[in-house]
Amino acid sequence: MSQTIIEGKAKIQVTPQKIVSKDMEVFYNPVMELNRSVSVLLLSCLGRKNMQFGLPLAGSGVRGIRFLLELKKSMIKNVSFNDYDKAALNSIKKNLALNEIKSKKVLLRNDDANLFLLNSSGFDYIDIDPFGSPNAFLDSSIKRISRDGILAITATDTSALCGTYAKACKRKYWATPLRNEIMHEIGLRILIRKCQLIGSQFDKALIPLYSYSKDHYMRVFFSCHKGKSKVDAVLKQHGTYGDAGPLWLGALWDSSLASDMADCFLKKSKGKGLEGMEKELYRFLESIKKESLIDSFGFYEIPALAKKYNLKSIPKQEYLTSEIMKRGYKVSETHFVLNSLRSDISERELVSLMKK
Ligand SMILES: C[S@@+](CC[C@H](N)C(=O)[O-])C[C@H]1O[C@@H](n2cnc3c(N)ncnc32)[C@H](O)[C@@H]1O
Repeated sequence: MSQTIIEGKAKIQVTPQKIVSKDMEVFYNPVMELNRSVSVLLLSCLGRKNMQFGLPLAGSGVRGIRFLLELKKSMIKNVSFNDYDKAALNSIKKNLALNEIKSKKVLLRNDDANLFLLNSSGFDYIDIDPFGSPNAFLDSSIKRISRDGILAITATDTSALCGTYAKACKRKYWATPLRNEIMHEIGLRILIRKCQLIGSQFDKALIPLYSYSKDHYMRVFFSCHKGKSKVDAVLKQHGTYGDAGPLWLGALWDSSLASDMADCFLKKSKGKGLEGMEKELYRFLESIKKESLIDSFGFYEIPALAKKYNLKSIPKQEYLTSEIMKRGYKVSETHFVLNSLRSDISERELVSLMKK
């Protein structure tokens, strides 16, 4: 029995399932609501005009429908929904009708994602949201992303990227992962470099605008710039971190965009008490806003540091934060792991502070 759910401004007909998997008749994952809300927010903050959106792996169509309902009309030239599954395409049609979208801006395709992309004349926004690794779709999406376009990449094969299956990471991402408290940041940076390497083949420099790791997935929004020297500048920022890598050593966020996104969300919610997913989204945006201002690789997981140095007690995070700031360093929480601090303070100085 199907039921109608509300996500953002969209109504979506889904068949509730105990387990969300690729075997569902039409794929809809409620956990990814935050992922879709972040996409809407990022695009609203970029505030571009007349964009062509390509959704090669559209599933139920929820993401594109939210774009059509929640972004300013002037932003959208057209939205192309594609899925190779006929049931998904029928569901997209039903969901468009349910939301009374009859727009000429909507285009529907029932093709393999790579064919859909390669047969197109290109898009200003492409969203790669696959089951598992995005690898199969990197060539075609990078070829078809426009100059200054936005390429959004999701990867759900975190067991490879975070080092549970290190050999798989080497095969798929050409890099060595790490299995410790910063494994999610390392995995995200490995994913970024892989996308950038594919971009470099086509003289396209992919600069991360907003990247994160959450639940079972990693997500990166790149802005794409054409030019050999821009690509060379990206490649210069690849390197290793101890035994891990090669990976992207540059910034994970455009800090002014991260700040706009958090502020815009707060303004939209008009100070009302946030609950559920909105509360989670607010905390998430605020956390990235703060950590995006700190130029550091990795972060300190305080309990892990206490264990490493055999400290008998762990100081409170608020105390450490204020002491680090008193010493003139930057510090913030990180969205990657709880009880952790991102800071430009050295490990030695932080440990001496913790000992006090
Ligand atoms: C993870 S779901 C996408 C979910 C959707 N983007 C959302 O936000 O709800 C992946 C979708 O890609 C489709 N798919 C997988 N491989 C494909 C391919 N090679 N070509 C076209 N569609 C594909 C599946 O049928 C499925 O609907």
